[in-house]
Parts: sequence; C-alpha cells; structure tokens
Amino acid sequence: MDEISALAKRRGFIFQSSEIYGGIGGFFDYGPLGAILKRNVKNAWWREMVELRDDVVAFDSAIIMHPSTWIASGHVAAFHDKMVDCKNCKHRFRADHLPSLEKCPDCGMRETLTEPRDFNLMMQTSIGPMEDSASRTYLRPETAQGIFVNFKNIYQSARKKPPFGIAQIGKSFRNEITPGNFTFRTREFEQAELEYFVPNDGKDLACYEEWVAARKKWYSDYGVREERLRFYELQPEERPHYAKAGTDVEYLFPWGWGELESIAHRGTYDLDAHMALSGKDLTYFDEATKTKYTPILIESSAGMDRTTLTMLVDAYQVEAITDAESGKESSRTVLRFHPKIAPIQAGVFPLARNKPELVERARAIERGLRPHARTLYDEGNVGQLYRRQDEIGTPFCIMIDYQTLDDGSVTVRHRDSMLQDRVDAAQLREFLGERI
Ligand code: GAP
Repeated sequence: MDEISALAKRRGFIFQSSEIYGGIGGFFDYGPLGAILKRNVKNAWWREMVELRDDVVAFDSAIIMHPSTWIASGHVAAFHDKMVDCKNCKHRFRADHLPSLEKCPDCGMRETLTEPRDFNLMMQTSIGPMEDSASRTYLRPETAQGIFVNFKNIYQSARKKPPFGIAQIGKSFRNEITPGNFTFRTREFEQAELEYFVPNDGKDLACYEEWVAARKKWYSDYGVREERLRFYELQPEERPHYAKAGTDVEYLFPWGWGELESIAHRGTYDLDAHMALSGKDLTYFDEATKTKYTPILIESSAGMDRTTLTMLVDAYQVEAITDAESGKESSRTVLRFHPKIAPIQAGVFPLARNKPELVERARAIERGLRPHARTLYDEGNVGQLYRRQDEIGTPFCIMIDYQTLDDGSVTVRHRDSMLQDRVDAAQLREFLGERI
C-alpha cells in the first residue's frame, strides 16, 4: 500500500488534503490523473446503471437536507460507532477495531482505555447566522435519503411505475473515528446509489438477485480480478430486521478484505419511516388497478473512492523484465487499467524532439485522435516516455519515427505485452476504437 500511495502522489493521482498545512485526517484530493480516473469510474457506473437502461432515472439532491430527514431515517438515534479513548496517550479508537480493551495498541499501556461510548458519525453543521439548536443540521451521511423523500416527485414527473429505479452519485460525509487505509475510510467520500422500487407481488427477491448479478458483471467487465473480489451474503443476524437479504461486495486489499458496496433488500422501511414522520403520502397509486401500495426497495450502494482505489490497487504490478537486445534485467512498474477507465488511453510521441518534421507530425496525429480518445502528447527519451506511460497505465503508446514520414505508418506499443505493431496512421482511429 505504501508503494501504491507513493506512486499515486508521484504521478498525480491522489494527494493528502491540505498537505502544506500538515494535512487533515480523513480527507484526500485527486490530482490531474486521479480526477480523470475517478470520473471514468463514475461514468462507467452511470453508463451501465442509468444510460443503458430504460427503467432507471437520474437524480441529484442537495447535500444538506431538513434535519427531520435524519430523525426519520434513524441516523440521529442509531448511526453510532462505539469509541474508546486512551487516558495516557489520548488516542481515540473504534472499539470494534481493537483486539482487546485491556491495553492501548498505540502506547502499550494497560488499563488506560475508557469504557466504550457512543459516537454519532454524522457531521454537524449549522445554517444561517445563529448557531443554535434550531439551525443545526448535518452533512448527509448517504445520498439515498434524498431519493426517498423525493420518491413521489420523481415517479410523477418521470411518469415511472414500479419496477423502476432512481440513481444518484454524490458526496457523503461521516465523522469516522479512525479514518485510514489511504482513501478506503475517509470522512468525505462519494457514493453511487441505486434505489430500485418494486411492486409487492412476490418477485422482489428475484429482482434483488438480478441486481447482485448485474453488479457482479459490472466489476468483471472492468477487469477487476475475480480472485480478489467476493460477494458475501449476509446472514439473517447480520442484517437489519426489515431486510430480507443483503450482500457485501468485498475486495482483497493489501491489508485484507474491505467492503466496496452493499446490496440490500430493504423492504418498505425507508418510505414507511418518511411517511410516518412527515405525514405525507409516499405510496404508489396504480392507475390500472386503482390500488395504492408502498413499493419494496432494492438498494445498491457503492463507494466511488473505494472503487477507484480498487482499480488502482488491482492494476498495480511490479514485474521483472529482460531487455531483448542487451539481456539486462530490470523491473517495471505498470498500472494495468482497463482501457475504458485508464486516464490516458493513447500517448503520442516523436522519436526525436529535435526533429521538427517528427514533432509536427506527432502533434498533428495526437490532435486528430483527441476527439476520439483520451490522448496525450509528450516528447523525450523513448525509454523514459514508455516508463512514465506504464506507470500511469496508458494502454497504447504511438511512436512517430522516420518511417512515418516515408510510408505513413506508426509504431503502436502495447502496455501489457510491450509488443509493438506497425499501423497505418490513417487507421489509428479505427485501431484504437476497437480496443478502448
Ligand atoms: N445507503 C446505504 C449505505 O450508505 P453503507 O454500506 O453505509 O450503505 C455504502 O455505504 C458504501 O459507501 C460502502 O460500501 C463504501 O463503499 C462507501 N463508504 C461508506 N463509508 C465510507 C467511508 N468512510 N469512506 C469511504 N467510503 C465509504
């Protein structure tokens, strides 16, 4: 993980937030390449979950909601972690992360830990100039509640009838007691949530299974290694009382298995809770049968920062290579991103930076490809150019050399095999189109 976070900083994927002031725990910034990578991950989710379906509509709600939302949702009463403090070193821990409550894991002292106390994970804020209890509310700890309270607005305006879903990607905030493992557990993060509403006609569990299968396919389509991914089915005692089924999607990180997503059958719990507190009707009225019912909810809730981190960890490889000509052994660091999510899909370079005719041709080829792929022009030492592109996960490198000036062909070097093809420059758009 240290190697990956060092690479992430060196190449501009992820930086500690406010680094010049010493950083701030649980917050991260995405650099020029990281911002593209994360956007690609979000786009890949959005494409599959919204654009390619006719039964899911888009949504984008405010981060700050009426404080009653969080009473109805149960977050005010129950969104707690147990924490303990060390009276000696003053460090704070999540009780469920400690092997025992006997001895502080940081300073090693015995019997210095306090009794576990409840700590609410919602981040408080206040609205307007008066900081009193009336102005207090929270930054949302999940995006889902914005969907639930708008259920009626959405189905009426979009003219949708269950089964149908509402999808949203947005920031959420949790005052985690112990953020850590790089961007895995942070205090500000992005969620991609799909809330799928189904009629109460006995097909709800089958629908839940379909979503589990759809999400499996998504991770597989983007190349996440099968052996490092597992779908853990929650046992009845691990699920909330109202949930008929639940699956955690987990990835094997260098420190162990970590949850990327939770898929849950939530019954009618959420809509019921908002109806009870608001007194407003959030049922669905079926014009055809003239009946009113509360739809059952199937939820898929994925963390976009965790998924981005997964793509980075899963792609990372250090491999030994032998130079074909000299036989010299060396190692190369490579990020084997799926071409669809790689920040740069094709790098274009002139063989020599001091030959204007090569530079001009390379720039023209890169400009021509730019509307069709995420491209980058660079120049310099060939070995270093390839090394840099390997480290940022660029699947194709296009070299413009003297032969290009003669016959219009270029060299395309493949990131994974390091093999090279000779391709007609006029065919490059098609060549890349078939592969990205
Ligand atoms: N609406 C359901 C919900 O929020 P969750 O299991 O609490 O469910 C869903 O969160 C996903 O959000 C998690 O699987 C994880 O990917 C992401 N997530 C939750 N807390 C996080 C944190 N502190 N840092 C980064 N991602 C987090």
